[in-house]
Amino acid sequence: MTRKPWQGRFSGKTSNILERFSQSISFDRELFPQDIRGSIAHARMLGERGIIPKEDAAVIMDGLEKILADLEKGSQPWREDLEDVHMNIEALLGERVGEAAGRLHTGRSRNDQVALDFKLYVRETSGHVARDLLKLLEVLLKRAEEHFGILMPGYTHTQRAQPVLLSHHLMAYFEMFRRDHAEFAFLPANMEECPLGSGALAGAGFPIDRMMTARELGFSTVTRNSMDAVSDRDFAARFLFNAALCQIHLSRMAEEIVIWATSEFGFVTLPDAFSTGSSMMPQKKNPDPAELVRGKTGRTIGNLMSLLATLKGLPLTYNRDLQEDKEPLFDSAKTLLGSIEIMAGLMDSIGFNTRRLTEAAEDPLMLATDLADYLTLKGLPFRNAHEVTGKLVALCVERGCGLAALSLEEMRKHSGLIGEDIFGLLTPEASVAKRDIPGGTAPGQVRSAMEKAREWLETARRG
Ligand code: ARG
Repeated sequence: MTRKPWQGRFSGKTSNILERFSQSISFDRELFPQDIRGSIAHARMLGERGIIPKEDAAVIMDGLEKILADLEKGSQPWREDLEDVHMNIEALLGERVGEAAGRLHTGRSRNDQVALDFKLYVRETSGHVARDLLKLLEVLLKRAEEHFGILMPGYTHTQRAQPVLLSHHLMAYFEMFRRDHAEFAFLPANMEECPLGSGALAGAGFPIDRMMTARELGFSTVTRNSMDAVSDRDFAARFLFNAALCQIHLSRMAEEIVIWATSEFGFVTLPDAFSTGSSMMPQKKNPDPAELVRGKTGRTIGNLMSLLATLKGLPLTYNRDLQEDKEPLFDSAKTLLGSIEIMAGLMDSIGFNTRRLTEAAEDPLMLATDLADYLTLKGLPFRNAHEVTGKLVALCVERGCGLAALSLEEMRKHSGLIGEDIFGLLTPEASVAKRDIPGGTAPGQVRSAMEKAREWLETARRG
């Protein structure tokens, strides 16, 4: 049991049970770089404004820099009895610089301090996610470019639907992650507002310069209401939502890899570096990384729910419940960054079985829409064209053949509009070429989509 600096009004000591229950140092130590940078900015401002002696501010800043270096080296142990990262760092500062350390907390509360640290952390982590998403986007685009021209079946309801380009399929994931990238790279306005200076809840009682600390810490402005600022965790909830959604996109891609790697599909070959063996069955090569990415999606959704539930029903302003905001966020950040990295590695080295894909694309019944479209272009209302084509498909299914294997006479029995020119259209290449509108799978469209994506990626990389 330790006496804390704010225990002047207590005569008894805190129970060990409560100390163990309420500590957050076991996880909020993750915030030490943000906490120290925030304190350095605060100390500098206090000195500049003459709120504390300039010499003390200099001593504090110097001490904090040294503590930061030690913590980064990992040579500095944490004290579990000091509750949280803020108290630990303040105590370390006291050991290092003595009495001056006691001036650092002037005009500041742990409430605006933790709001600041956490917001800085979310800002930085969003930047890391955005940067890593660019690596994944590069991999997807590169693989799409490499395999330009390869056909495969496109699916709806996991049933073969229409032939598409493999590049078009891969670029679908590019679009998902491009949207995610925008969420992480372009922060909402609220993330530009620095909460430091909000004090415990009512605002600091000293003539501090909030814009000065805000600018030093990379914010463009300051929060407008101290009561909101110390209890606002919207930025964390939004991060958790974006993380869950991005993880869901990764999970969808992972699921596809799992299916494609089955003998039944055989569309891809798993790279040795990104698959695992079975302890019992020697023939097995398992898509464990993809399955783990899929499996970890559950916790990212759970983390979002956890924070939303914590925030629900909190009266203004700071409540200790808010300490529960950190673990879910740290967990989602780590999970997401790890999953992006592993999926980038997997997609970079996975083998596409182009023969298998091309053969599957030749499944002739996938051309039924092309026949219906043909009849429609000849003047038949689309619904009737659908009906006629359906009859011909039934005939093919009965005989086990494709549409192009039917004779012209047989086809004309169902519609006199069908002519010799139909046969040129009943190939997967012709089918794909027909989808020649922006966003479609015609090779020219896909090529131009990839070119634009390449340009976008180069610009995004330059940031
Ligand atoms: N460990 C606390 C948290 O994470 C820091 C703020 C504590 N403030 C307080 N008034 N007890 O929220």
